[in-house]
Amino acid sequence: MMRAVIFDLDGVLVSTDHFHYMAWKQIADRLGIPFDEDTNNRLRGVSRMESLDIILSGASDQQFTDEQKQSLAEEKNAIYRKLLEELSPADILPGVTETLEGLQTKGVAAAIGSSSKNARFILEQVGLLDRFTIVVDGNQISRSKPDPEVFLLAASLLECDALACLVVEDAVAGVQAGVHAGMQVAAVGDAINSKDATFKLQRIDQLLKLI
Ligand code: BG6
Ligand code: MG
Repeated sequence: MMRAVIFDLDGVLVSTDHFHYMAWKQIADRLGIPFDEDTNNRLRGVSRMESLDIILSGASDQQFTDEQKQSLAEEKNAIYRKLLEELSPADILPGVTETLEGLQTKGVAAAIGSSSKNARFILEQVGLLDRFTIVVDGNQISRSKPDPEVFLLAASLLECDALACLVVEDAVAGVQAGVHAGMQVAAVGDAINSKDATFKLQRIDQLLKLI
């Protein structure tokens, strides 16, 4: 019996991939590091600093101090935040609003388990913040997905056993995090190729049939 659904945010409720891409691309171009949408896809579910390390690994001839890396990450975030200001309720992905309403009708709690430190800002921009009982984001965790920390913290705040939580993820690292947390995982988007997913959904509102 499912008591709660813990949603990833980026790529599940709102598509922010392209904003991340545009912000990282400005930094990578300036440093002369190759960076394309394929590399950007590898950053899904991965924290900001780990994303930067993946990008900088494309520049084996350049070395960066921790201070330089911190400054690059801050610069990327400033560009990204500016782009996020364009978000509105029109950017909520198809089926999401119906899914959240369906869960409310069934008395199932909805929570957020996101690696992003901008999760609350994004939820505010699209008008979804008050739809979630619990929001756990990148500010509250020290280990990024595929570590289960974000989902275990959400379950603990919900006072819900892991076995009664369903995770919804679009990133392979996120699917693994859900499995490591001992939860069932519904994969959407590219994550449906993950062998670890419990369920594979073509549309997010199909999850109402699982509850
Ligand atoms: C995840 C995204 O939700 O958040 C990653 O899928 C991103 O691509 C990560 O790197 C961290 O985001 P932020 O907003 O804290 O830089
Ligand atoms: Mg995601």
